[in-house]
Amino acid sequence: MGSGRVTLVGGGPGDWDLLTLRGARALQEADVILADHLGPAAQLDNFMDLTGKEIIDVSKLPYGKQVAQERINALLVEHARAGRAVARLKGGDPFVFGRGYEEVEACAAAGVPCSVVPGVTSSVSVPAAGGVPVTQRGVAHSFTVVSGHLPPGDARSLVDWDALARVGGTIVVIMGVRNVRAIAEALIDAALPPTTPAAVIQNGETPAQRTFRSTLADLPDLFERESVGSPAVYVIGEVAGLAHA
Ligand SMILES: C[S@@+](CC[C@H](N)C(=O)[O-])C[C@H]1O[C@@H](n2cnc3c(N)ncnc32)[C@H](O)[C@@H]1O
Repeated sequence: MGSGRVTLVGGGPGDWDLLTLRGARALQEADVILADHLGPAAQLDNFMDLTGKEIIDVSKLPYGKQVAQERINALLVEHARAGRAVARLKGGDPFVFGRGYEEVEACAAAGVPCSVVPGVTSSVSVPAAGGVPVTQRGVAHSFTVVSGHLPPGDARSLVDWDALARVGGTIVVIMGVRNVRAIAEALIDAALPPTTPAAVIQNGETPAQRTFRSTLADLPDLFERESVGSPAVYVIGEVAGLAHA
């Protein structure tokens, strides 16, 4: 196997300068970079010479989602076994809804050394890019980050939406564009006030960033009115209504 190894690198939400220095170093030292479309993949030449490096855009692997992850795992192992330093560049943080641990497990199963460089997660940085702090003294003493990729009531969902409505603090929803109406309705049905402030930030930390304010009740209509698409993060809670938010 030689010196082959894999480094999972959290790339942050968009702009390349939100990469960590450790992440940038891992990318500079890599022979092969497997990159997702979210994060700074298109801006690698801002901070390094790409000559001699192989860049593989794994967001374009031509298979269904499930198979694609298996294919990514296989590519990581294959390149590392050939003695290459492999960097796996992911959006945000590798372990926040990033399937990073599946890649760690694949490397471990194959006996390939693997390390992880954390990244700036969109669940905190994208609200901040829209002027929304996920906590604020005297306003929110907790924040809950939840995946909205499955709607409330879906038997496969691991989220307790009723409990979420009661837990207080800030709710940050990622991957929740398609299910925004079902999510807002479930939270209101579970007694979260419809007037609760909400904010949505699309394409955070990119030149295409858009930010909107709303209430929980109006959030789904706002998505329709403004044609909000992925990637977007929405924040539900008093912090979204702060004066300078
Ligand atoms: C598969 S998850 C990956 C999250 C990532 N691991 C992280 O820590 O940010 C992708 C979701 O993150 C959110 N996201 C990531 N980058 C974003 C950005 N620049 N602007 C808005 N939302 C973003 C969106 O909700 C998107 O659907």
